Amino acid sequence: MARTIKAGVIGTGFIGPIHIEAIRRTFLGEVVALADINDTVAAQKAAQYGVPRHYGDYRNLLKDPEVEVVHICTPNNLHYTMTKEALLAGKHVVCEKPLTATLREAEELLELADKAGLANAVHFNVRYYPLIREARTMVQKGAVGQIYSVQGSYLQDWLYHDTDYSWRLEPEMSGESRAIADIGSHWFDLTQYVTGMRVTEVMADFATFHKTRKKPLKPIETWSGKLLKAEDYQEVPINTEDYASVLLRYENGSHGVMTVHQMYAGRKNRVYFEIGGSKTSLNWDSERPNEMMLGYRDKANEVLLRDPALMDANARKLVSYPGGHNEGFPDTSKQLFKEFYQYILDGNRSTAPQFPAFLDGYREMVLCEAIVSSAKTGRWVEVRH
Ligand SMILES: NC(=O)c1ccc[n+]([C@@H]2O[C@H](COP(=O)([O-])OP(=O)(O)OC[C@H]3O[C@@H](n4cnc5c(N)ncnc54)[C@H](O)[C@@H]3O)[C@@H](O)[C@H]2O)c1
Repeated sequence: MARTIKAGVIGTGFIGPIHIEAIRRTFLGEVVALADINDTVAAQKAAQYGVPRHYGDYRNLLKDPEVEVVHICTPNNLHYTMTKEALLAGKHVVCEKPLTATLREAEELLELADKAGLANAVHFNVRYYPLIREARTMVQKGAVGQIYSVQGSYLQDWLYHDTDYSWRLEPEMSGESRAIADIGSHWFDLTQYVTGMRVTEVMADFATFHKTRKKPLKPIETWSGKLLKAEDYQEVPINTEDYASVLLRYENGSHGVMTVHQMYAGRKNRVYFEIGGSKTSLNWDSERPNEMMLGYRDKANEVLLRDPALMDANARKLVSYPGGHNEGFPDTSKQLFKEFYQYILDGNRSTAPQFPAFLDGYREMVLCEAIVSSAKTGRWVEVRH
């Protein structure tokens, strides 16, 4: 039997269990340990998810000799220290996005991972919808033609009410930017991955609609706030953006515009882009991820359904089920981890990986910093790659 990669997962709130499930579904990995905030929580989660060993202090998971890959699924402010310590302990790392809370930290992790020669990835899972790789391949093969423009949005409504609360609203835990760092990072990763074009200049406009919010007086996991009652809250000021729109200039003269909004009623978690090219336009919506519209001026538009028989060989690698058997959000993490784990099993760290590495996480931090700076100064800001 082929050997499996032994994984440890730190943080088992919302996204941690999604990692656990996805690792298992790769058939290349095995979750041997998890860690959370204390022994009680860790023990309860280990029992719930059938994980053999658990730790109330993540440092003990890093000392576990069987763990080869560490998945970091904790709030943003903890990514830097946990990733650094994991690399120093000789572990490969999958870190959640954003890679860190500050650019300086991202720079340091990038250097450290390079020196250590360990495999590293950031969980930009959205680019693992199979039609996204199909779109990228179409651009690479010239089927889209010259790209004139990129536009789109990432809209959510989970912060719609002032009673909606999460650590994401606190800059000390989340970082200076919220909507751009949290969900804009996915949109930028996705669209730059598809087009192969880097953003070189940005002009941003931020807004915070709820100037104060009602913070629960007891800790909650993401998405569970609706269970709390009014007397459990305290009014706190909010300093990060609920909304941002950004004008974009790309390296090859293309233009773009994007909006992120975490208080947009009815859009639950919708990533959307349109790429306008000289041969066709590509239009994709994460809430209908198994179809992509190709737009034409001189003939009828087409809808490409995710069907391995109709897709390029490289995109087909990300498809597990035939056409009509829809794939979705949980499949993206599975496909990312499959590529990451195979890369480790191959022991070939010299070739450029297909998965998003710390370099991609670092580039997102550079972009995020430029966007925040533009929102503060009201001017175009150059993105220094
Ligand atoms: N790629 C995606 O689609 C996606 C989706 C959601 C979240 N995320 C990212 O995942 C990370 C976690 O987000 P979430 O929504 O799961 O948050 P969450 O609040 O639901 O879960 C965080 C978990 O970390 C644990 N934790 C906190 N401090 C810890 C410590 N010192 N040691 C060990 N565990 C600790 C908490 O107890 C909790 O279990 C964030 O960086 C977020 O940006 C990514």
